[in-house]
Amino acid sequence: MRILLIGPPGAGKGTQAVRLATHLSIQHISTGNLFREHIDQGTDLGQNAHTYVRAGLLAPDEVTIEVIRQRLARPDTVRGFLLDGFPRNLAQAEALDGILADSKSRLDAVLNLEIPEAQVVRRIAGRRLCRQDREHIFHVHYNPPEVDGACDICGGEPYQRDDDRETTVRKRLEVHRSETAPVVDHYQARGLVTTISALGQVQEVLDRALAAIGHGQVDASGASSC
Ligand code: AP5
Repeated sequence: MRILLIGPPGAGKGTQAVRLATHLSIQHISTGNLFREHIDQGTDLGQNAHTYVRAGLLAPDEVTIEVIRQRLARPDTVRGFLLDGFPRNLAQAEALDGILADSKSRLDAVLNLEIPEAQVVRRIAGRRLCRQDREHIFHVHYNPPEVDGACDICGGEPYQRDDDRETTVRKRLEVHRSETAPVVDHYQARGLVTTISALGQVQEVLDRALAAIGHGQVDASGASSC
């Protein structure tokens, strides 16, 4: 399957993407994580992107689209992929249409996560990522690591993103409203979008997402229950 996950910052895209991709045996591709890897490695791309990421703005389209073009060309995406955080504006959506057309493939579904902004601010303020693997996401209140200061899965150090300060989060929300919301309309016109509430327990949101793409529910261990 080829799926897009759209939603405001802090909606839980990363949290759900990891679980959905594992359940469906497809690649989870997050442009935010790809940029953070480049930033940590100090590559030219990372240095360029960091200016935008730190300010809560979108990185330039030509850079972002090229990163995705190269990632989707890798053989591990043949079975499918889940894009988390791309496309984020209409130019990126049109570029993705072109990339998919060139490879004679198409999207199966677009999941649009909905959440009130007050909840977003609470979720982001408490978010911690694992330094060793950014797919390991925690929250100081809603999903704290069992041992303080260590990732449950690999023991890495949980840290706070430098774009998770409240003023930057407000800017990211503004960018989402003005630039990313129209992307939902772009895919709605093709009948691909299902909007689901991102409120409730992680498992409840996962169950809604799986139902939306026509898959059975999974229990907390990831085993299918349908
Ligand atoms: P990116 O990394 O994509 O950030 P984002 O879209 O702002 O989304 P977040 O990662 O903040 O939130 P999320 O929805 O993944 O929530 P999460 O699961 O972590 O982008 C960062 C930056 O990179 C952008 O600002 C931009 O500069 C650049 N960039 C990225 N893509 C780009 C593109 N295409 N073009 C240009 N620039 C781009 O959850 C949040 C917290 O809530 C966690 O602590 C989690 O534990 C908790 N939580 C999750 N679900 C629940 C639940 N059900 N109940 C309680 N808590 C929950």
